[in-house]
Amino acid sequence: MTPKVAILISGSGSNMVSLVEAMQSTGFAEPVLVVSNVSDAGGLVKAQSLGVPTATVDHRDFGNDRAAFEDTLQIELEKTAPDVICLAGFMRVLTAGFVSKWDCRMLNIHPSLLPKYKGLHTHQRALDAGDAEHGCSVHLVTANLDDGPILGQAKVAIKPDDTADTLAKRVLPFEHELYPAVLKRFLAGQTEQLTLDRITS
Ligand code: GRF
Repeated sequence: MTPKVAILISGSGSNMVSLVEAMQSTGFAEPVLVVSNVSDAGGLVKAQSLGVPTATVDHRDFGNDRAAFEDTLQIELEKTAPDVICLAGFMRVLTAGFVSKWDCRMLNIHPSLLPKYKGLHTHQRALDAGDAEHGCSVHLVTANLDDGPILGQAKVAIKPDDTADTLAKRVLPFEHELYPAVLKRFLAGQTEQLTLDRITS
């Protein structure tokens, strides 16, 4: 049976688009739902134009009640019974309770070579540290932020004149290449780390 995948977004959804296009073009999985926690996230329109059902669960409707937000998110997700969830630019920290419901079935993409630079401002932090290389990681989601087992990484060289912006723009296409490749392998039961070694510039 074709595995079903739901994708959580907060913004422009470029990683979501790359995941959906890969699934739709080769059929290794079915994108059943895109959920945003931001009602005007640009990714929602893109998902609709790709023919993927969408939903919004706006975290602001729940104030500080994180559990209530996640309960509603869970209800939306269960409607389409996904096998796997992909976080793709989803900018909410999820509680241990929610994560445990999707244990070993929820992936995230993070714009750094984990375990370096968990959290925000990853590109600037790599520059500030004087790193020679930077990149992105796809990992399983666990209760600790950006901390789960790494399933794949792509690396780029940092150039002397890079800014956080130029670096982010150079890493993003590699996110788009890495995430579908890792998802496909993961759904086939392969969890050893994929490294896109050829990406060196
Ligand atoms: C990406 O770098 C992603 O890794 C990060 O947010 C950025 C934008 O993602 N979490 P997208 O265009 O919304 O997929």
